[in-house]
Amino acid sequence: MLDDLKHDFPIFNSYPELIYLDSAATAHRPRSVITAINQFSILENSNIHRGVYDLSNNATGKYEEVRLKVAKFVGSENANNIAFTKGTTESINIVAQSYLADRLEQGDNIVTTIMEHHANFIPWQMLAEKHSIELRIAPVDENGDLIIEQLNALIDDRTKLVAFNHISNTLGTVNDIEQLIELAHQKNAPVLIDAAQSILYYDLDVKKLKIEFMAFSGHKMFGPFGIGVLYVADQLMDEIKPYNYGGGIIQSVTVNGTSFSNFPFNMEAGTPNVSGVLGLGSAIDYIEKIGKRMIKEHIGTLTKYCVEQMKQLSEVKMLGSPKNRSGIISFVVDEIHPHDIASFLNKDQIAVRAGMHCTQPLLHHFGESATARASFSIYNSKSDVDALIKSLKELIKFWA
Ligand code: ALA
Repeated sequence: MLDDLKHDFPIFNSYPELIYLDSAATAHRPRSVITAINQFSILENSNIHRGVYDLSNNATGKYEEVRLKVAKFVGSENANNIAFTKGTTESINIVAQSYLADRLEQGDNIVTTIMEHHANFIPWQMLAEKHSIELRIAPVDENGDLIIEQLNALIDDRTKLVAFNHISNTLGTVNDIEQLIELAHQKNAPVLIDAAQSILYYDLDVKKLKIEFMAFSGHKMFGPFGIGVLYVADQLMDEIKPYNYGGGIIQSVTVNGTSFSNFPFNMEAGTPNVSGVLGLGSAIDYIEKIGKRMIKEHIGTLTKYCVEQMKQLSEVKMLGSPKNRSGIISFVVDEIHPHDIASFLNKDQIAVRAGMHCTQPLLHHFGESATARASFSIYNSKSDVDALIKSLKELIKFWA
């Protein structure tokens, strides 16, 4: 277990009693990340790629250093595999609009799963409607594990993309991405991995795994809001066309037409989120200092402990029981509405998410309209789980 990391996170100085169990929604930021963002504003603020004076050159250099850092973080040596976006949602939408839309023909299909976040579901649904192609949706079993044979049967030689998450933000299921990638590649279909929930503590070596597209967000890995990443494999970089037009993405503009830079520079029209990128770079340094293995072990231990405790409460029903679970547990308590659960926990300063978790098809599949959800990070400890269980016991007593 990791001890004492809570003091790295200033939010807990402001709210010492806070028991934050909503890191799947957003993680808190360590002091080093906050400092990196502030330092840019105080000492280094300048636009990038646009000036030849020292401040601008320095900012450009730092911004581009982070691109390489991100590339290495995901197992690539090529900084140009990495585009900075607003977050996972924008990264996925870019793949939908800038890569896939123009290559769809009647008879094609896109394969995804029922356990996707809306961000990795609606873009494909919209493409399917617009281009009259089929959206094929792989089911999960009652444990919340993908039914691999059924997923495999959906992929064929007209599959233009297989899009799935590494970790379900609602069930906590950790998908065997190696196996899923293999199934897609057997039929020559490229894959898109939504790594929003896994990038923090799973090694995702894009080259080894032969991933074509991968998306994740800074704010779930201790970085700032409004910054995300789209990784595109070497062989597909030339296939990504600009989706958002403006300055910073062109080779030349005349009254007769415009020619564009190559990926990733054709994705970043307008002034980018420079301080966000520097904050993301600092978040990567922080993660690497602790080590993904340690982070995974810590979160795994807490989650296991919480699952065991919840099993003792007959009124609590967890959604799914996946073979391999990450630090996420969705649950309901008797007939109590999840918003009432979350409000009750809030009086003890326990923060959990309640609602649909942007996964309505999945919740409907399980016959639920909402759940409460606890999710863990490195600043949580066993005492946080104990507090959650104590408060749930009071809730059950109170409601009886
Ligand atoms: N995707 C985030 C969550 O699962 C917001 O809560």
